[in-house]
Amino acid sequence: MVDAAGLLDAGERLDAPQLRALQVERLRASLHHAYANVAFYREAFGKAGVHPDDCRTLADLARFPFTTKEDLREHYPYGMFAVPRERIRRIHASSGTTGKPTVVGYTENDLSVWSDMVARSIRAAGGRPGDTVHVAYGYGLFTGGLGAHYGAERLGCTVIPASGGMTARQVLLIKDLKPGVIMVTPSYMLTLLDEFERQGFDPRGTSLRVGIFGAEPWTEEMRWEIEERFAIDAVDIYGLSEVMGPGVAQECVETKDGLHVWEDHFFPEVVDPVTGEVLPEGEMGELVFTSLTKEAMPVIRYRTRDLTRLLPGTARTFRRIEKVTGRSDDMVILRGVNLFPTQIEEIVLRTPGIAPHFQLRLTREGRLDALTVRAEARAGATPELRDEAARVIAAAVKDGIGVSVAVEIVEPESLERSVGKIKRLVDLRPRSD
Ligand code: DLL
Repeated sequence: MVDAAGLLDAGERLDAPQLRALQVERLRASLHHAYANVAFYREAFGKAGVHPDDCRTLADLARFPFTTKEDLREHYPYGMFAVPRERIRRIHASSGTTGKPTVVGYTENDLSVWSDMVARSIRAAGGRPGDTVHVAYGYGLFTGGLGAHYGAERLGCTVIPASGGMTARQVLLIKDLKPGVIMVTPSYMLTLLDEFERQGFDPRGTSLRVGIFGAEPWTEEMRWEIEERFAIDAVDIYGLSEVMGPGVAQECVETKDGLHVWEDHFFPEVVDPVTGEVLPEGEMGELVFTSLTKEAMPVIRYRTRDLTRLLPGTARTFRRIEKVTGRSDDMVILRGVNLFPTQIEEIVLRTPGIAPHFQLRLTREGRLDALTVRAEARAGATPELRDEAARVIAAAVKDGIGVSVAVEIVEPESLERSVGKIKRLVDLRPRSD
């Protein structure tokens, strides 16, 4: 990649053949490292009849077995670690919906690579050394806060470690400390928007130029809403704790066309979620990652459950993933039709009179599941406009997704607001167990 502005790091400047050569070398080392130091991988490779030496090209990776979240859970807490516990400098964990969290660990070098990747991400988003970065991702076991924090420091920024919550104070900090960049979930950014308006401050008048939003799916419609209401550039950051945390892939501000995977450290594949077959570039499937440089917890063909497709590089040589708008876990199957909350988000956000806040309620009527979209009216929306909006949303869901849903327009500010990752779906069906 030609670096006219002199901003890119060494990894970003590699051309495609150099990148592929580096990936093969690192892939082989990572497979050997996992095999030599993690009993789980030794057994899994043995069962599949493969050895790290069998990997000579990137395509050979397809012969190796997948790793799933269940595998990580079964080896809770430290069973997937490839280095002695004394070499682990930090632990993070992602809270499972049920039972045990998934514990992940980092060596000193892993933390350094992570900071480099987040620094690269912030720079791709339009942040620069010397910027002030307001981090409103939660600090703690969640990777969002600390991941963003050390990356921003690595880039040479001033960090405001606000964490999530205490929304009124966040607004005060943004007004007074004048950050140029904010890192936060898109849903919490909307909560901040309400608070700006409640305090009587124009959200378009802040010092913010760039928002780096991730940790949950969000749509183009949400990007427009946030960009318009705050007068900023809104770009997408992707990551997951099992692979590292935020900064596995990042959208570049100059193109806003999907997220470049930082492929010199994380090798992506997209596979058919049912057969596991590797899909060609451009086809939609489940995203799978193999870590190329991780020491503490290498992951080999880790199934993310996130649905997207691989696309060629644009602003960087690295390939892109399309915005992740669905996760197999979030898919609702309603009377045989697959539906993702982001499809509803697209519709709700373009409906006049409706605020960008909604919730989905899944109930059972007799033997059939029923879905109610609860969408919030904008302040001042008349009863006629609300009725019209309900009709428009129901018709758009029926026409666009192919299923009938009930729509309830609720009062402004009545739906619960997010402070971190938002939960769109409330499942009120009787449990079958
Ligand atoms: O959410 C890491 C992160 C923090 C990413 C801050 C970006 C910003 P986990 O808690 O392990 O890690 O959750 C990972 O969140 O598999 C996706 O389903 C979802 N996710 C993360 N980023 C995005 C995104 C962090 N940009 C899971 N778009 C992932 C859509 C996302 N989904």
